[in-house]
Amino acid sequence: MKKTLSVLLAAGIAYLPLSAYAQDGAQEPVAATGDVASPEDAGVVAVEEEHAAEAAEEGHAETPHYPLKKPEEVDWSFDGPFGTWDLAQLQRGFQVYREVCSACHSMNFVAFRNLEALGYSEDQISSLAGEYTVQDGPDDTGEMFERPAVGSDYLPAPYPNPQAAAASNNGAVPPDLSLIAKARAVERGFPTFVFDIFTQYAEAGPDYIHALLTGYGEEPPAGVQVMDGTYYNPYFISSAALAMPQPIYEDQVTYSDGAPQTVEQYSRDVTAFLMWAAEPHMTERKATGFVTMIFLIVFAVLLFLVKRRVWASTPH
Ligand code: HEC
Repeated sequence: MKKTLSVLLAAGIAYLPLSAYAQDGAQEPVAATGDVASPEDAGVVAVEEEHAAEAAEEGHAETPHYPLKKPEEVDWSFDGPFGTWDLAQLQRGFQVYREVCSACHSMNFVAFRNLEALGYSEDQISSLAGEYTVQDGPDDTGEMFERPAVGSDYLPAPYPNPQAAAASNNGAVPPDLSLIAKARAVERGFPTFVFDIFTQYAEAGPDYIHALLTGYGEEPPAGVQVMDGTYYNPYFISSAALAMPQPIYEDQVTYSDGAPQTVEQYSRDVTAFLMWAAEPHMTERKATGFVTMIFLIVFAVLLFLVKRRVWASTPH
């Protein structure tokens, strides 16, 4: 019975892709012979042919896959099962966000007090927050008022609403960066994603952001059109160009700890900071996970020994 069931299941699985293929095959001759079933189909075929002709004239036959270039793998302090944060790097990354990215991007889910995890003292956080003004209220007369920020306030956003943000950035809203390191990842493709399971690769998000920030400055290849108000970047995930101009240049941010003031270093630092913001408890999660695995292995051995003991007196 069991055998029959599994044969049936296997046959079903094998049949699915076959039937899809058969359908594809059946449709093709229709288009090729011009023997079309309905006027709408005829329209689709005609339009497709037109597109193909245009594309052939311009010298590119099909829409390319984005991103045009895959991000390279960066060696992060937080990667792997024993990854840890480099606090000095996170502080530098926050500095880059504060001095550069915060002109356009909000980080609505990070409060000043959360920054204690980067190694700042309570006093440092209070004075940092005090440099910002936030809107509060309403007061006793029903008016909104402004006051200096405190530790429990969230990082203030550069624009009051998405419409204002879009109006200042050629129609594109700069996304909130709180979770961006977990919200973007370039597909790794077969067979890399299989190896990733064994190498424990989980840094596709940070690798993407790092590649994007360092990916400006190349000339677009022939056939790639860059619309006005967008900037060519072969690492951008959904097109050849994006509405963000190159945000950071050499020597733009002055580091006090002597770290190199290069685009490469700035990008690594701000990306590490964004990864921390997206998953502040990542290193605790990894440490707990490791202990859990050890526990499970020991427990499995114990269970096996107990099972042998319990069944020891039962004859086979
Ligand atoms: C001049 C304004 C401006 C500055 C400064 C800026 N950005 Fe952007 N950023 C944008 C805009 C606009 C977009 C949306 C682009 C689009 O969708 O075409 C964007 C998009 C992004 C994206 C998302 C890309 C995607 O895959 O959708 C990331 C990540 C990003 N910015 C990171 C940064 C970082 C990190 C900094 C600081 C080093 C920074 N940005 C500074 C305007 C800016």
